[in-house]
Amino acid sequence: MVLDTMANLHRQYNCGALTTKNIGETITLMGWVHRRRDLGQIIFIDLRDRYGITQINFNPDIQPEAHEKAGNLAREFVIAVKGVVEARPEGMANPNMPTGDIEVKAHEIYILNDSQTPPFLIEDDPRASEELRLEYRYLDLRRAEMQKMLRIRHEAVNAARQFLNNEGFLEIETPCLIRPTPEGARDYIVPSRLYPGKFYALPQSPQIYKQILMVSGCDKYYQIARCFRDEDSRGDRQPEHTQIDLEMSFVHQEDVFRVVEGVFRAMFKATIDYEIGEVPRLTYDEAMRRYGSDKPDTRFGMEIIDYADVARVCEFKVFRSTIENGGLVRGLNAKGAAPDISRKKIDELTRFVEHYGAKGLAWMKVTGGALSGGISKFFNEAEQAQIITLAQAEEGDMLFFVADKPKVVYQSLANLRLKLGEELGLIDSSQYNFLWVTDFPLFEHDEETNTWAPAHHMFTMPHYDCLDWMEDDPGRVRAQLYDLVCNGVELGSGSIRIHRRDIQQRVMNIIGLSEEEAEQKFGFMLKAFEYGAPPHGGLATGIDRIVMLLLGKKSIRETIAFPKTLKAVELMSDSPAPADPALLSELHIKLDVKNKTPEK
Ligand code: AMO
Ligand code: AMP
Repeated sequence: MVLDTMANLHRQYNCGALTTKNIGETITLMGWVHRRRDLGQIIFIDLRDRYGITQINFNPDIQPEAHEKAGNLAREFVIAVKGVVEARPEGMANPNMPTGDIEVKAHEIYILNDSQTPPFLIEDDPRASEELRLEYRYLDLRRAEMQKMLRIRHEAVNAARQFLNNEGFLEIETPCLIRPTPEGARDYIVPSRLYPGKFYALPQSPQIYKQILMVSGCDKYYQIARCFRDEDSRGDRQPEHTQIDLEMSFVHQEDVFRVVEGVFRAMFKATIDYEIGEVPRLTYDEAMRRYGSDKPDTRFGMEIIDYADVARVCEFKVFRSTIENGGLVRGLNAKGAAPDISRKKIDELTRFVEHYGAKGLAWMKVTGGALSGGISKFFNEAEQAQIITLAQAEEGDMLFFVADKPKVVYQSLANLRLKLGEELGLIDSSQYNFLWVTDFPLFEHDEETNTWAPAHHMFTMPHYDCLDWMEDDPGRVRAQLYDLVCNGVELGSGSIRIHRRDIQQRVMNIIGLSEEEAEQKFGFMLKAFEYGAPPHGGLATGIDRIVMLLLGKKSIRETIAFPKTLKAVELMSDSPAPADPALLSELHIKLDVKNKTPEK
């Protein structure tokens, strides 16, 4: 087929623009052939671009030449059409599309490019597996849904930028080739050609640089920052993600909250016209006690119930011995669910909590003012009454119990709560329930190595009143450390930072970083702190996760133009890929990967 050129062609309107106001105009449109329908003599083309779809009508009686050429068109051909905008005939209007009242009667058609038959339709096509969509991402991104995602993402970032600019923040770029500095995840590293055996790392976040910018007197910094972490991907994690990263000087936690809430209000208003109300707060301890999670979904209740008082004295050995050994006995009340929960379902839920280490899932039903089934025979009348009171239980409620170490109980019940919430239809998916979780512990204990690690990162300031005894009881230190959570998703994390070398050194000591090691890895930062570092704090929020929430997506890969699979592969370009041996030799790198290449 002979292709036409763009010479003398000028696009006047996009494919979503024409309405009855344009009737009578002679116009030129360009776009992709979305669909072709041959109705008797007449050929209809749905012409598509980012903005919409316009129906083109090729009538052999008006323009036989154009009509004949249209007969060659197939899906995804790129064409230009000259024609006249006309009202659609009576009864043929399509109220579901903005251009549904008109069509373009084509006089001339230019075929600017042809196309292979696409492996899937550019609309919701069940044949398109995720692998296929990622391999042909350029086609996948042509879909209206993906175009909407790209637009919403752009609008969210734009709204955040505008808000922060108005607040006097400076957008400052920090380097992507940095000194390897352990920050939690594994680094991606980049070999240096000029310094054999030395490496740059890609930043896991701009954390150290943004703190140093505070030492530099920048006062209010932000950046739309790419962050790289070599950790296992998950539904809400990517090897590279984007943060709206910010830092402020001379502030308290409240000041950071005000700005971050402002950013979110602006983003949600601009993208989906949603007004975020007041953002409630929960301390970490309370969040764990009530929901078993530091990122609770607060769109529904079903809070965790503490049965320690009955468990301690009851006959059921599993419960009593758990309490005697310092464990927890807690549970959930699935309100009104008893009649609908079968034995099979209970078995399924038991297997579900076993994933989180639970040894079982005990249950009882509320019937006739007492408890029945499951483990009810182990509880006398008074104990049953006590359980009913604790659970605020009523006829038809289904009570579940897990007895174990705190970590297992929290994880099992937090996840069971989410599963039941979803299955019992308790979650209103039109709601966005924002929440600050505050006062996180500064350190986490690693049982295997019997060491302390920072719960967030080592630059977080403990609460001032913990400073006197920090070394004596690290597990009890609470920090000026906070997360922004929405609908069970951690959207952002931040803290007030340590700005004094002496406190920073003490925290490093507790996590077992020797002075030499600290000096070697973070010496430049510790030195900067000696030159008048101001008190400062900030937060970073993940844009990919925000877009997930804005669009109700379950996978982070649906929010990124070119994401990586769970196995960290970018399927379109098939990256990672081998490097040129000559380049490796320049970098003084010898490979030792025989039989070690994993399947992608
Ligand atoms: P943190 O590591 O908690 O904090 O990250 C901040 C936010 O970034 C998002 N996020 C991710 N999104 C997608 N894929 C990932 N792998 C991923 N990791 C994190 C989350 C998270 O809440 N420098 C600190 C921030 C600070 O203290 O100011 C930091 O990076 O939404
Ligand atoms: P058993 O007496 O071992 O048959 O257990 C009775 C019930 O208690 C079963 O439903 C088990 O799933 C449950 N169960 C056993 N261990 C635990 C535990 N640690 N926490 C909660 N339920 C348990």
